Amino acid sequence: MTESELDPETLRGVIARELTGARQRTAALTDSVDEAELVRQHSPLMSPLVWDLAHIANQEELWLLREVGGREPMHPEIDPLYDAFEHPRSERPSLPLLPPAEARAYGHEVRGRVLDLLDGASFTGSRLLGDGFAFGMIAQHEVQHDETMLITHQIRASRGGTPVLAARAPDPAPSDAIRLAPEVLVPGGPFTMGTSAEPWALDNERPAHPVDVPSFYLDTTPVTCGAYAEFIADGGYDEPRWWTRAGWEHRQKAGLTAPLYWRRDGGQWLRRVFGRPEPISPDEPVLHVCWYEADAYARWAGRRLPTEAEWEKAARFDPATRLTRRYPWGNAEPEALHANLGQTFLRPAPAGSYPAGAAPCGARQLIGDVWEWTSSDFLPYPGFQAWPYKEYSEVFFGPEYKVLRGGSFAVSPVACRGTFRNWDYPIRRQIFAGFRTARSAVAERGLCAGTWPTWGRPPRCARSSSIRRTACTPRRGHRAFSVRGRSTRTDSGRAGTWRTPLPPSGTGRRFPSGRTSPLPT
Ligand SMILES: [Fe+2]
Repeated sequence: MTESELDPETLRGVIARELTGARQRTAALTDSVDEAELVRQHSPLMSPLVWDLAHIANQEELWLLREVGGREPMHPEIDPLYDAFEHPRSERPSLPLLPPAEARAYGHEVRGRVLDLLDGASFTGSRLLGDGFAFGMIAQHEVQHDETMLITHQIRASRGGTPVLAARAPDPAPSDAIRLAPEVLVPGGPFTMGTSAEPWALDNERPAHPVDVPSFYLDTTPVTCGAYAEFIADGGYDEPRWWTRAGWEHRQKAGLTAPLYWRRDGGQWLRRVFGRPEPISPDEPVLHVCWYEADAYARWAGRRLPTEAEWEKAARFDPATRLTRRYPWGNAEPEALHANLGQTFLRPAPAGSYPAGAAPCGARQLIGDVWEWTSSDFLPYPGFQAWPYKEYSEVFFGPEYKVLRGGSFAVSPVACRGTFRNWDYPIRRQIFAGFRTARSAVAERGLCAGTWPTWGRPPRCARSSSIRRTACTPRRGHRAFSVRGRSTRTDSGRAGTWRTPLPPSGTGRRFPSGRTSPLPT
């Protein structure tokens, strides 16, 4: 049931629950470190935690108390300090920010007044109030900053900060995970992408529109650490052929040799998870890779990243009914059995988890666990209208940002939908991002995806059997021959180096933040 189908009293309860849940997580993330750690900037890419704390309150005051409630500003002199467009993150430590105690008191005061406002809200009279959108937007804003603050914690702890966050591990993968096909077929044809009906959807998710997506195959689960380690072992970071020109330049300039937080220790890879070193988990989805790394892996595997439209069709389209769902499992709100969301665990679940959250096509973990890079630039949908302000999404549209979909373990369910679009620069690695790969079902000239050479050695699967430790024999949907680092021939028979094409450009989570928008930058 969506917010628009709720009576006002029930909707009031839903809003109060979401706001309260968000604040509990905010408190957990900011009470866990001392004042010195709250005001310190742990990376120029991130704000001091105390900035996030007061920014959350400031946006809540701006949108709910002032815009919706018509109240006078509580502390207009601090508005510029917490305007994300006015001050990039690198500048924020030098601002005369509210000290932690004052930031907490400000947030507490705002929240009290907002709950009073909520008590009397009718949810009519303006588009902002309809279906409680403004309240939902602010709840989403706070949980997005909770994710941002969790990223800051990860950085802080990786740089020698005392580990302060802990959570139990997700359950082991279910027994059927070992038997899952490595990829699933998503049949071709039109489907409805985006939404015009989701009450709390943001402007970049709108409107619903038809998109014709040819048949394609998609990894059943996100690419794992074990599979990614094979890419490294096979010289993936040393072969420019797997990288775009820009990707190769960045790989060299940044000295990339492995995912962020990984380090080699003798014969094994170790990583730091919120400050605690551990061996990588081969069956866990890989995390902290940038778009360039994801794209290079896909090429090495003889595949490509899915377009955003492909990702959403796999996640939402039900071939049996020809209808588009809200979530892979249907229209019901996310629950613990569906997806790894909400910082319940501080890591992705093993590949193959959450069978109850599978999409009709059979793909698992499309929602939760890791944000998934797509090949697509962040662009508006046909008929897009900026709302409530163009800084919300519109100023970010363009080829410099790549779209991520599906949400991570750090995302709250209130800010995670089948239509939710995230976007970031292709060099970003601190975010909780991984990926899965795809290939076209219909062979395209020059594409290695699914094509069989008419010469030479029999094809073998380009994806290692160790991905899920299953036998890897050529079969429908899993027969792309290996293109790893070897001279071969094109499908025209001419000698040359087999090249995978650039992934097709398709049609992007992060809120643009600023006083006109409630987003975590
Ligand atoms: Fe923000």
